[in-house]
Amino acid sequence: MSERKILITGGAGFIGSHVVRLFVNKYPAYKIINYDKLTYAGNLENLRDVEDKANYTFEKGDILDLEHLLQTFTKHDVDGVIHLAAESHVDRSLHNPNEFAATNIIGTLNILRVAQTFWHEDYRGKLFYHISTDEVYGTAEHGQYFTETTPIDPRSPYSASKASSDHFVSAFNNSFGLPTVISRCSNNYGPYHFPEKLIPLLINNILNDKPLPVYGKGENIRDWLYVEDHARAIDAIFHKGKVGEVYNIGGNNEWKNIDLVNFLCHLMDQKLGKEDGTCAKLITYVKDRAGHDLRYAIDPSKLIGETGWRPEVSFEVGLEKTIDWFLANKEWLRNVTTGAYLQYYTTMYQGR
Ligand code: NAD
Ligand code: DAU
Repeated sequence: MSERKILITGGAGFIGSHVVRLFVNKYPAYKIINYDKLTYAGNLENLRDVEDKANYTFEKGDILDLEHLLQTFTKHDVDGVIHLAAESHVDRSLHNPNEFAATNIIGTLNILRVAQTFWHEDYRGKLFYHISTDEVYGTAEHGQYFTETTPIDPRSPYSASKASSDHFVSAFNNSFGLPTVISRCSNNYGPYHFPEKLIPLLINNILNDKPLPVYGKGENIRDWLYVEDHARAIDAIFHKGKVGEVYNIGGNNEWKNIDLVNFLCHLMDQKLGKEDGTCAKLITYVKDRAGHDLRYAIDPSKLIGETGWRPEVSFEVGLEKTIDWFLANKEWLRNVTTGAYLQYYTTMYQGR
């Protein structure tokens, strides 16, 4: 196994922490550098089990800080990037689109420029892997599936910022020959999911006997994938993907929101030893999200055909594993909802 020095941005976030864990454990000869600003969504608690490994390093840094990115590339002689750092929550993007444009567009552009500057004399063995989202395709008609050639049609400030970053990645491949690859995944769920997103929010609210907010009529459809399956797909694409290509990632697992909420309530009743129907009484229909995309549905056949990747965790198993994890990690949930960990970072990383 040849040695690689891979900068993973956003490695302290939900998906990033699973990618870091997979790479650190699976590739002991690689050096994994986790570059993360530790925003509200970044949490080093997510990586306690790998933080002492010899092939893992954490660099607290902002992708908007070009100078620090360049120093980090130089210091670690980076030859691969897996770029996950982003503002990721659609609802927040409706309130603060500028922050999304800054982090997701300018931040991505910064890393592209640093990679190009650092690697341009010899691109062999280098790869800039950009983690994007199925949301850049907009909303899917009934019976339609997003393929890699589906036109980009972002409809929220979040997806517009991700689509723009995708275009910059393609432009650097086309204009400067930077070896790039992009993947676009559907909705993830699993351990360490921040409880502003639907599934962990529902679990947290049930545990606190709070209403379960369902936007609009609950008829929107999402295509759910267990986060470890996403991390394995990223591994497959990093090692087997073709330079310049885009890969869709998904598990053919569409759920109407209200059906998912009811299913989760049923499982929570079982786990908490409550009478069936108890948690569902907390369901509350609320005002719809502005511009709420009706349906996402991924066609992952290109990825499966080219790399052999397949999802391994069914939704029934994955959701139960997720619930079990949250029930066993109530302290983690309490910390992230009270912001106790942010307080800790302010003290620990003063001035950076
Ligand atoms: P997340 O919000 O849980 O984590 C984002 C991470 O990025 C955090 O650790 C945060 O501290 C870090 N970060 C934010 N701004 C930064 C900056 N300026 N500099 C350095 N680090 C910064 O996000 P997630 O859900 O894990 O998503 C990760 C990536 O995957 C994102 O690019 C997202 O668009 C994409 N994605 C997410 C999903 C999903 O269902 N969550 C699906 C498809 C694609
Ligand atoms: O499709 C991939 C995308 O999935 C990622 O790119 C995003 O980063 C990620 O946040 C996710 O976006 P969604 O907007 O689909 O996820 P969210 O968990 O916010 O919402 C899932 C669905 O549930 C969506 O239709 C909105 C609805 N919803 C959400 C919340 C938070 C509710 O009905 N009530 C809620 O309280």
